[in-house]
Amino acid sequence: MRKFSLVLLLVLALSMILAACGGGGDEPASESAAAPRSGGDAANGEKLYKQPVIGENSAPGCNTCHSLDEGVVLVGPSHAGMGTRAETAVPGQSATDYLRESITNPNAHITEGYAQGVMYQNYGADLTEQEINDLVAYLLSLK
Ligand code: HEC
Repeated sequence: MRKFSLVLLLVLALSMILAACGGGGDEPASESAAAPRSGGDAANGEKLYKQPVIGENSAPGCNTCHSLDEGVVLVGPSHAGMGTRAETAVPGQSATDYLRESITNPNAHITEGYAQGVMYQNYGADLTEQEINDLVAYLLSLK
């Protein structure tokens, strides 16, 4: 009987630990892998893109640094034709994955001619999964 209740206690403790881990599952990196790839709303993405500030820490908005006009460099590269360019930006990586990574982990691949660490680094944590999907959908639409 004693042994039995000890086992019960162990099982209980383990399930509590598991529940605690699951509860804090706001990790953008681990969730993005499982997130639907095509759930983005490009129209909302455009709205987000053009906001002066974005995300829960009021980070600078995308068009503070990115122009939509061909060849116009503000701080980062122009996003004219970004959806097309993303298809071949990194060999073997889909346009969707490239854009998602560019937003959530900007230093993973640095666009040629630009410095690393200049783009705001915390969008992956500041933005919701849906906001990131929407931004990716918008950028994909820029052909
Ligand atoms: C503080 C300036 C700054 C802000 C704000 C910024 N970026 Fe950037 N971004 C850059 C710079 C600089 C680069 C080029 C270096 C690199 O690849 O990280 C870049 C690169 C990119 C690229 C890759 C471009 C290419 O030609 O391959 C994408 C996509 C991108 N940014 C999306 C975004 C989105 C979406 C937002 C808003 C949520 C944003 N950026 C906000 C500076 C910025």
